[in-house]
This record gives sequence, C-alpha cells and structure tokens, in this order.
Amino acid sequence: MSALLFFLFLFSDVIEASFFSASGEPIVRNISELAQSNYGRGGLSHVTVAGSVLHGFKEVEVWLQTFAPGSGTPIHRHSCEEVFIVLKGSGTLYLASSSHKQYPGKPEEYHLFSNSTFHIPVNDVHQVKNTNKDEDLQVLVVISRPPAKVFIYKDWSMPHTAAKLKFPYYWDEEYFQSPKDEL
Ligand SMILES: *[C@@H]1O[C@H](CO)[C@@H](O)[C@H](O)[C@H]1NC(C)=O
Ligand SMILES: *[C@@H]1O[C@H](CO)[C@@H](O)[C@H](O)[C@H]1NC(C)=O
Repeated sequence: MSALLFFLFLFSDVIEASFFSASGEPIVRNISELAQSNYGRGGLSHVTVAGSVLHGFKEVEVWLQTFAPGSGTPIHRHSCEEVFIVLKGSGTLYLASSSHKQYPGKPEEYHLFSNSTFHIPVNDVHQVKNTNKDEDLQVLVVISRPPAKVFIYKDWSMPHTAAKLKFPYYWDEEYFQSPKDEL
C-alpha cells in the first residue's frame, strides 16, 4: 500500500469513528426524522431528542414536545431538575410550590410565551398547558436524573401520598419491555 493510500485509509477510519456515538446513533441527527408519537395522549407530539433508555444518556435527557391547543401535561411531580425553553406558541404553567401541605393546593399561574424559559423546582407539583386556542405550544425540555420517575395527580387537592407513580414513563415503556440488545 502506498503512503498516500495508507493515509487515506487512516483518514476514512477517523471520519467513520466520529460519525457514530457510543450508542450507535449518528452524532448529528435531523430532528424531523426522529421518531415522534403522542404515546396515547391526545394533542401531544413527543420526540426524545436525547434519551436515557433510548440513547444511553446518564445525566440528562432532552425532549421536544408540541401541545395542541387545550392539551398539556398531567398534574405531576418528579425528583429531578427540569428546564423548559418555549420555542413556539404560548401557554400557562401551573405550579404549586408549597411543600408543607398534604396536597398541592391551588397553583400559581405563570404566562409562558415564545422564547421564554422556565424551570421546575425539584418535587414541586406542576402542569404545563397550551391555553392559547389558536396556536401549538412547542417546548424543548431538559431533565436531570433520567429515566423520569413521575408521580401523577388527578387534581390539585389529591394528597401527595396518593399521587400515582408512572414508571417507566410513557415514552420509556416500549424500551423497558424489550431489552435493547435483543434485536
Ligand atoms: C430533515 O428532514 C426533513 C424531513 O424528512 C427534510 O425535509 C429536510 O430536508 C431534512 N434536512 C436536512 C438538512 O437533511
Ligand atoms: C430569543 O432571544 C434571543 C436573545 O435575545 C434572541 O437572540 C433570539 O432571536 C430570540 N428568538 C426569537 C424567536 O425571538
């Protein structure tokens, strides 16, 4: 093999190696081509951009979610940090921050708007809702400590102890059922 060919061989190897991450996913991916689903929840479109069970992330998970007018998350809490960036639309954050009571109680309401960001304090009960009748609400969500362990409330007066653990969460379910290395 000539020196030049050998060099090209080495070079192509480097390109190949940097193209795929440890999970076997390409480093750069087209968001429009990632799997999206409503996971049985009306008005939702969810994309796991970077996932724990899906891509092997240990510290963070990133979601892209779109809520049709009137739809939103359940009333819930989790013991992870969560940061939102509103990419499109507007809506309302309902946040019950008092951790002293037996139940969440009447939440504070915060107006969410395009290009706004907000975070949910660990364990605070909250709900994000598209309260704009005319436009989808699209958010980028980052959570810590994946996969998400979510406690769901029927309403704001449900005792914290009665909130129901949903684990694995909707989009993690199918991957928990079929182990990843079983192709
Ligand atoms: C990303 O995917 C969408 C949908 O398939 C496609 O229209 C678009 O051209 C893609 N972008 C690039 C840069 O390939
Ligand atoms: C969001 O805010 C940043 C910082 O001011 C700005 O650069 C960006 O253009 C804004 N984006 C939109 C869609 O308004």
